[in-house]
Amino acid sequence: MRVGLGTGSTAIFATRLIAERLRSGELRAIVAFATSTATAHEAARLGIPMLPDDLPEDLDVTIDGADEVDPALNLIKGGGGALLREKIVAQVSAREIIVVDETKPSPRLGTRWPVPVEVLPFGWLAQARYLEALGATCVVRQTRDGARFVTDSGNMILDCNFGPIADARGLAVALNSRAGIVEHGLFIGLATDLIVAGAGGVSHRGR
Ligand code: A5P
Repeated sequence: MRVGLGTGSTAIFATRLIAERLRSGELRAIVAFATSTATAHEAARLGIPMLPDDLPEDLDVTIDGADEVDPALNLIKGGGGALLREKIVAQVSAREIIVVDETKPSPRLGTRWPVPVEVLPFGWLAQARYLEALGATCVVRQTRDGARFVTDSGNMILDCNFGPIADARGLAVALNSRAGIVEHGLFIGLATDLIVAGAGGVSHRGR
């Protein structure tokens, strides 16, 4: 199988387990593709065979995390800043399995998390004004030491608080149509499976 490896503190467990099962022989004939340089480094360190960066084939399955999930399995992603590569990988994956803990499901996207929006540094204030005109309060993402966060593709992230979003699909279209916005963390209709882990056990929903 061709397997997409997600990014973040949840998805990394899947990467490590895949490596473990390849080593034990329980899994065979897996090639993987990572959704961030961080995951790619970890996968290489663990000896998982990887597809080349130009992604020559579509993927059978990807296992990734999310920041917020609505009842229709739409997502906010990008808390780790990997939303662009994560969306490229999700769009070519036959199954996109999202694994979260019980704090992530929410009645409406935007209730708990801002929408990360990856913008080109060139002219970025114009994008901030556009996002504010759409109703967001935007914060430039920073690293722990106060420097501007730079994505794997050399861009910056505006964390945009829209509050609970009434029409996530419509907002995604508005964000898609703006030059300078490279990608955004609204993943509409991409997740095929949701696995939620909580104190009461693990539940699975598919579509
Ligand atoms: C990375 O950019 C994200 O989309 C993560 O998948 C998301 O932020 C969830 O991360 P955790 O599993 O660390 O909460």
